[in-house]
Parts: sequence; structure tokens; C-alpha cells
Amino acid sequence: MARRILVTSALPNANGSIHLGHLLEHIQTDIWVRFQRMRAHQCLHVCADDTHGAATMLKAEVEGLEPQVLIERIREEHAADFRGFGVTHDNYYSTHAPENKQLSDLIYERLHARGLIFTREVEQLYDPERKMFLADRFVKGICPRCGEDDQYGDNCESCGATYEAIDLGSPRSTVSGATPQLKASEHYFFDLPQYTDMLKDWTTSGALQPEVANKLAEWLDGGLKAWDISRDAPYFGFLIPGSTDKYFYVWWDAPIGYMASFMNYAQERADLTFDEFWQPESNTEVHHFIGKDIVNFHCLFWPSVLDGAGFRKPTKIHTHGFASVSGAKMSKSRGVFVNAATWLEHLDAEYLRYYFAAKLNGTIEDIDINLEDFVTRVNSDLVGKIANIASRTAGFVTKQFDATLSAQLEDEALWQQFVDAGSRIAEYYESCDTSKAVREITALADLANQYIAHHEPWKMVKDEAQRERLHLVCSESINLFRVLVIYLQPIVPAFAERARTFLNVEALAWTDAATPLGEHAIGKFKPLITRVDPKKVDAMLEHTEAEETESADEAGNASPDPEWISIDEFEKVELRVARIVAAEKVEGADRLLALTLDVGDERRNVFSGIREAYDPTDLVGRLTVMVANLAPRKMRFGVSQGMVLAAGPGGADIFLLSPDSGAEPGMRVT
Ligand code: MSP
Ligand code: ZN
Repeated sequence: MARRILVTSALPNANGSIHLGHLLEHIQTDIWVRFQRMRAHQCLHVCADDTHGAATMLKAEVEGLEPQVLIERIREEHAADFRGFGVTHDNYYSTHAPENKQLSDLIYERLHARGLIFTREVEQLYDPERKMFLADRFVKGICPRCGEDDQYGDNCESCGATYEAIDLGSPRSTVSGATPQLKASEHYFFDLPQYTDMLKDWTTSGALQPEVANKLAEWLDGGLKAWDISRDAPYFGFLIPGSTDKYFYVWWDAPIGYMASFMNYAQERADLTFDEFWQPESNTEVHHFIGKDIVNFHCLFWPSVLDGAGFRKPTKIHTHGFASVSGAKMSKSRGVFVNAATWLEHLDAEYLRYYFAAKLNGTIEDIDINLEDFVTRVNSDLVGKIANIASRTAGFVTKQFDATLSAQLEDEALWQQFVDAGSRIAEYYESCDTSKAVREITALADLANQYIAHHEPWKMVKDEAQRERLHLVCSESINLFRVLVIYLQPIVPAFAERARTFLNVEALAWTDAATPLGEHAIGKFKPLITRVDPKKVDAMLEHTEAEETESADEAGNASPDPEWISIDEFEKVELRVARIVAAEKVEGADRLLALTLDVGDERRNVFSGIREAYDPTDLVGRLTVMVANLAPRKMRFGVSQGMVLAAGPGGADIFLLSPDSGAEPGMRVT
């Protein structure tokens, strides 16, 4: 029986770019969704941007935009990033939407009517200048445990202590710099403890991975607290019904955003109704894919809210661990986090899909993205093992046998082994253990390659007596290749699509794997995938480093109140005229030039991101202006001793500053 499944990934926050961590989640989800669709189930995948909260409000202010304009721009960027990675969302919506407002109010009113909402005074830090209550991340101060300054209001990055924002020494608001005061206000609470018994049942009902259920059991045994669901104005969000200055906390309407995105989508599809997926007792399924940091919201609050409001609970919540980047090339301690768009500028999306699939095993273990391992893995598996089966045999079929496969197979037992693996691989996909699926598929690819190596078609072709066997062996190989492409299709759909064209078949459904092609004309063989070029990985990392510097610079300018500097402060910057005496490209750094500068009494080496705008030979001899007292910065290529000044947005549009003629190297610029 065809299943009817609604799938969601967690809604990315609308105040940053999509990066490798989000991609891990959406790729995992998309693989599962594509697998279900190949199995002829109805599988819908909806998502949205999570738009509300103080962070969005403040970011919009800094950019001088209405929050609605900002979030729409970001939503489009996010949707495009995911499309670039082949993620098939049926709807990529926004939590700032009428359906969400309607559902958020409805659910609240139902819970309210059942006596599950109450109010209580809460004391919190308040910014008297900006006139707003401060969430933990908007307060910084001295860690009460180790004394390190500049720590956020919830935990210390230096010693790992967790505490309350009011325990910080010398606290200050990161919004205005003011010293926060304690201030009381009325908050709305959802009576979560009422649901303790329901949650004890539900969390152990098979809806969760066992390790997640165990973690939750600890919390449940420790006793639940009521959940604070309101925030005071100013806030970007939905007003609580009946109130004029209290908003729903962003985590109230965020999961409701799953329903709202689906509602919005169902309205456009005559064959879908909202109710069939959200009423209790429905025979449809709802699956959420999330990261381990948001388990409490999804596995405690969300099922209770749904239950209280008379909606169905999720069928399954699939939780994954955290991704981080490591490897010899990583210099920074916090790890370089590559943005989706940056990856796509340098590398194929499917490489990442394959690598994540090979690492994800359906548990909440963290995922280490080691870029050297990544290059080896993709090149040896996808290129060296899978694509190789076709590239070693297709030519013989095309040239010797009029591009037509033989009606019979050469080795029935081997074929059957490939077919039989299908049910195991399907189970791995179903349980999100794609690492086992990949292992099984690459092991089969090894068998196919051994089979080819054993028969040596390149020798058979020289012997007329072997002609028939050559046809059978190559046809067998291509049939085996097709089975593997079918098994891999959820992971690398674009690769599978190119293979489909070569195989000259209409579709690659899961059940097709059980039947060989028989006498069948194949298409022209073109290389299906190129090797990952490690230089492109380096270029991507370097690009990411440049972006980080840029965004750090932006953050420096991002104070909502302009910060004037005094002439004394300006005088601290030592600007000098410099002559460029040498300029060279930097190996492995597409954007940088290495400049040697003459500043009168000394020479400086400076790396500058102007390579796209200037031919190095044109720069030699030219005067420019540099910051001479910038602390030296160690980069991957050497130490940069200063900075040259240039105007413009960057890339090819960057213009080096030059003094008028007559200036001499070393002159102070004031
Ligand atoms: N907006 C909330 C989710 C609301 S769902 C109703 C949120 N947003 S987020 O942008 O911070 O994260 C979105 C998802 O990406 C979460 O599931 C989170 O776990 C995941 N990841 C964010 N960084 C990650 C890694 N570094 N690694 C893996 N996943 C991570 O939380
Ligand atoms: Zn500390």
C-alpha cells in the first residue's frame, strides 16, 4: 500500500546564510524523501524560513529595512541555496504568513480554553536605552566562574560554565552598550507538566531514536517546567490574541510553521487537504528531521501542544548530530563554516550529498567533515568504482554491437546478488542509515569491477571466437551498473539522471532494479562525473576565509547607533604612502595577490584580495596607500604585514587608492 507521508526539515533561521550544517539536515531529509518517492509512496516535503524574534528585528534595523523585506530576500536566498543542492522542497514558505498567524492563534485559543495557559511575573534583564528586554545572547559580561570578560548571558565560551544572565559581572547590552536593569513583566506560560504522562508514553512509542528517548527520559524524570511562550514588545512576531504588547515567542509559531507551509501548499493542490495530514486518527504520516540541539522543542513541547490543541502527533522525529569541518587545512579553532553558495561556486553539490550520505548513520553522533577524506572518498567511490563500471564497458557495446545489450546475462548468480541486496539497502534508507547503504552499494561495485577485471573485455575484443561472450560480459556489467544507479539515485540524483540518459531508459524506479534490460539500445556514453579537484577545495576554503573577514568587518559596522571616533582614535591608524615593487599571484588563492611594498625605510609583504581586478604586472611601480601599523596577520600562505586601501564592493570591482604624483613612499597620510 502506498504510504502518504509529510516530511519537514527544521526551519532555518532567517538571520544568516545556509551553511554546511543546514545542508546536512536538508540533504539527509531529501535523500529520505527521494527514496520514498522512488518506492511509489506519496511523499511531500515542506519547509520555511523561521523569521520571528528579536534578532530579525535588530538585523532589519541595522540594514535599514522593514523586517518583511529583509526576510523575503533571505527566504529567496535560502530557497535558491537548497535548490542548488538538489533538495526537493514542495513548498519553501515563511513563518511570517497568514496561515501561520491563523494556526498559531487557533492552537493558542484551544489550549487557553482548556486551561493550559497561565500568566506569571518574570524578572529579566532590560535595556533601559533601547527599551527592550534582553535575551541571553544580547547580554555580555564577565563569567561568574572563570572571570573571563565578553561572555554571553547563558554560557561561557572560555570555561564552559552555564549560568543566568543576571549572574554575569559588569553586564552590558550588546544592542546599545547600556548596563541592563532587572525588570519584571507578565509572561504567558503553557502548562507542560500536564503532559508528563503522555510524553512518557509517546517518547518510548518508537517515534524517536532510542538514544533520544533515553535523553528525554532523564528530563522527564527530573520533572518538567511550564514553558514561557511570550515575549514583550518590541519584538518581530505575532501578537498574542487579546494582547497589545505581548508576542508569541518565536518557538511558538516556528513548529506551527510546518503546518502553515503545508496548509499553504495544500491550498494549491486539489488532491490534498490539510485535515488528512493533521487530524488525529489519520492514516497519513508526519516525519520531522531535526538537529540534536532542538530535541526538547520537538519532542516535548511540540507533541504536547499538538495534543492539547486536538491535532495529531508526529509519526517520527529523526534527529541528527552536528557537523563540523576538520582536517589538516583547517587553521581556525572554531572551524571554517562553508556557506552553501560558496560551495556551489567551487564544487559540485552531489559531491557533498554523497559524502554526507556516506557519513550519516541514523544516530545523533556528530559528523566530522574532513575535506581530505572527502576528496578521497568521492574520487575513489563515485568516480573510481561506480562510474568506472560503465566507462570500462560501454564502448565495446557501442562499437561492436550496435549499442545494443544482449538479451541474456552472462552471470545470473552475480545479477541475483545485486537484486537481493535491494531489500537490505531499502531498510538502510528507511532508517536513515545511508552509511550502510553506501557501504553495501560500493561493495557491490567492487564485485562488478572484479567481474570486469576477471573477464578482461579489452582482451576478448581481440579474439573473434570470444565475440559472443564479450557481448554478454559487457551487457551484464551495464545491467549491474544500472542496478547500482537505481540504489544510489536518492543520494546523487543528477548523476543518476545522466546515467539514465546513457542507459536510455524512461525512469529509474526502485522496482526496476529487479529486471534486467534485455535486448535494449543504450545511449551514447559521456563521462558521468569528474574527479574532485583538491585545488577547488582549497579555493573554496580561501573564499570562506575571505567571507569571514568581510562579515567580521560588517559586524564591526553594524552598531545601530553610529559610533563616532575621536581624532585621537583616528590618529592611531598609521596610513602611509607605499610603492608596489613586486606583485605576484598566490598559488592556491584565486583572489589574492602577494604585494611587496616599499614604505620608505622598509619593505612589507601584504596579501591583498585584488587579484580579480588587477593584472599583477600592471601594479608594479605604482603608488598606493597602506595601513602600516596593522598587527601582522598569519595566513595560510605567509604573514601579511599591513593592508592596502581600496574602494568598491570587491571581486573585479575594486579600486586601489593612489596619492597624487609627487607623493613619496613612506609619507604619512593624514
Ligand atoms: N529556527 C530553528 C528551528 C525551528 S524548527 C521549527 C533553528 N534554526 S537554525 O537555523 O539554527 O537550525 C536549523 C537546523 O539546522 C536545526 O535542525 C539545526 O540542528 C541544524 N543545524 C544548524 N547547524 C548545524 C550543524 N553545524 N550541524 C548540523 N546541523 C546543524 O534551530
Ligand atoms: Zn568562564
